Amino acid sequence: MPVFEDVVLEGHLIDSLILPQVLDDILASEGTHQIVSLEIGHGREDVSRATIRIAAETDRQLEQILSMVQRHGAAPAQAGDARTETVQRDGVLPLDFYSTTNLESYVRLHGRWVGVAAPEMDCAILVDPEAMTARTVPMIEARRGDQIVVGRSGIRVVPLERDRRGRNFEFMTSTVSSEKPKALVVGEVSRLMRSTREAGQKIIAVAGPAVVHTGSAPALARLAREGWVDVVFGGNAIAAHDIEVALFGTSLGVSVTEGTPVHGGHEHHLRAINRIRAEGGISQAVQAGVLREGLFYELVKAEVPFVLAGSVRDDGPLPEVITDVIEAQSAMRAHVGDAGLCLMLSTMLHSIATGNLLPARVHTVCVDINPAVVTKLADRGSFQAIGVVTDVGLFLDELADRLAEEG
Ligand SMILES: NC(=O)c1ccc[n+]([C@@H]2O[C@H](COP(=O)([O-])OP(=O)(O)OC[C@H]3O[C@@H](n4cnc5c(N)ncnc54)[C@H](O)[C@@H]3O)[C@@H](O)[C@H]2O)c1
Repeated sequence: MPVFEDVVLEGHLIDSLILPQVLDDILASEGTHQIVSLEIGHGREDVSRATIRIAAETDRQLEQILSMVQRHGAAPAQAGDARTETVQRDGVLPLDFYSTTNLESYVRLHGRWVGVAAPEMDCAILVDPEAMTARTVPMIEARRGDQIVVGRSGIRVVPLERDRRGRNFEFMTSTVSSEKPKALVVGEVSRLMRSTREAGQKIIAVAGPAVVHTGSAPALARLAREGWVDVVFGGNAIAAHDIEVALFGTSLGVSVTEGTPVHGGHEHHLRAINRIRAEGGISQAVQAGVLREGLFYELVKAEVPFVLAGSVRDDGPLPEVITDVIEAQSAMRAHVGDAGLCLMLSTMLHSIATGNLLPARVHTVCVDINPAVVTKLADRGSFQAIGVVTDVGLFLDELADRLAEEG
């Protein structure tokens, strides 16, 4: 083949399946490869190193293959500095901007590798070559005069590797299935929550209205009260229906004690939203004694922050709902930096939005009754996502009980 380039891979290439994935990507893109050198680490902690020559028919095809394998950590054998271009107009990136992954990344500036702060996918890299710093920047936040990395050279990403401390979630991460023993899954999630806490990292809960409809809001409130949740993300619906339960005893007009529709119940969530609007917000309603129970009452009392992002289908909405989606993204972004775990509980919209903001190193647990949703949410790398196809109510109740039992 007429064009080729040598790339270097370093790390746990064999047991983390990085080498087979790179070779697979090359073949899938109809390129060819030749392993120029390969040193395999002998012990569990030893790293391996490979130099691979990738060849293609055209420059364009080669570029495509190189950008695919870069996501597995393959870096050009002859690394130069990263190229940058200046932003000409606020909110518009240079045409050839480098689009980020959510993996830990480095850029080469003046011959030195500099870590990229706040890893986030689908952003650009903003550098300050004087200060020798780099960070991700969403397109909309790029400002005229910013230096943005373009092209692909001088960039290195660190692929996710199997956890070397021996934590093993393999049996759950292998496939998404409704047939796995739930007690074991809940046990693993509770262990993950503990290890996140021990590492001093935060736990995010992203929750949809099914948490309220299934009657498991008290279980989530218990987790927040007992310090297992640092921040809650959601939309108008979870808060509106939780407050509907607190004020009217119904969720979507259905009695939470009887399980039967209540006459005029379809208006309850609107009346609940209106009542909170009259107080100026959820916190004010708690202070005024209007809201005296429920998940959001407990969050306010326990001083657990929440971010509610708006959507076009919202009623009201509640005063805390951020209706500008870019503002909502920024408010969520402010909480993800020191997160170690994210529980995604029965909301596709807010879980995907959160997943897009999270660095790849953050473990996620996706709970949904629809296997297609769990597969979509859990498909963000092989080692850090657990997919659970089940009713969120049963899951949360069992998780809260398990954590309480274990003390
Ligand atoms: N009245 C309102 O204002 C109102 C009402 C509904 C939704 N909304 C808003 O619309 C947006 C999207 O709503 P969403 O997040 O509910 O919808 P979504 O479609 O994004 O997600 C709902 C998910 O819940 C899952 N689910 C349903 N029942 C479940 C159960 N028992 N156990 C586990 N999973 C279950 C579904 O499979 C689905 O994936 C949000 O912003 C929400 O606040 C507003």
